[in-house]
Amino acid sequence: MANVVLIYGSTTGNTEALSGHVAAGLKQAGANVTVKNVTDAGVDELADYDAIVFGCSTWGEGELQDDFIDFYDGMDGVSLEGKKAAVFGPGDSEDYPDTFCEAVDILEDALKNSGALIVTESFKVDGDVEPAFGDAEAWGSKVAEAL
Ligand SMILES: Cc1cc2nc3c(=O)[nH]c(=O)nc-3n(C[C@H](O)[C@H](O)[C@H](O)COP(=O)(O)O)c2cc1C
Repeated sequence: MANVVLIYGSTTGNTEALSGHVAAGLKQAGANVTVKNVTDAGVDELADYDAIVFGCSTWGEGELQDDFIDFYDGMDGVSLEGKKAAVFGPGDSEDYPDTFCEAVDILEDALKNSGALIVTESFKVDGDVEPAFGDAEAWGSKVAEAL
């Protein structure tokens, strides 16, 4: 059974809510999942897992959610060779058409640069997250099946 860590950063709770559903999907497809707020997670811990899922909303103009910034900075120079990974996050294409879900792309690049393999296309939620809970679960299962 693959050991997966799901680390999320969330200011108003949207990414946190999605994380619960992604985690449920991962579990349903047979993964062993640890869910952590990025405020309680350290880059060193990533070595303990087979796979890494990041969930992060986009703030400012295409920036990482605040709590994720230190963690992201800490990833510089870390080797995640042999790890599998996937990224999701909510955003708002109506108000931020040029920077829609850019945090997801930033984290995907950071994972790739560290040597991790992205196993599934990222999952981006536009606007209200509640209608996307089912899709979040399905995406989680898809990730687990790709491990
Ligand atoms: C001040 C502000 C800036 C934002 N900037 C972006 C952005 O650049 N791109 C984007 O896709 N969404 C942007 N959003 C939308 C948030 O990412 C969205 O509300 C998200 O669901 C928040 O998730 P969270 O509660 O997990 O932090 C912004 C929202 C606010 C209020």
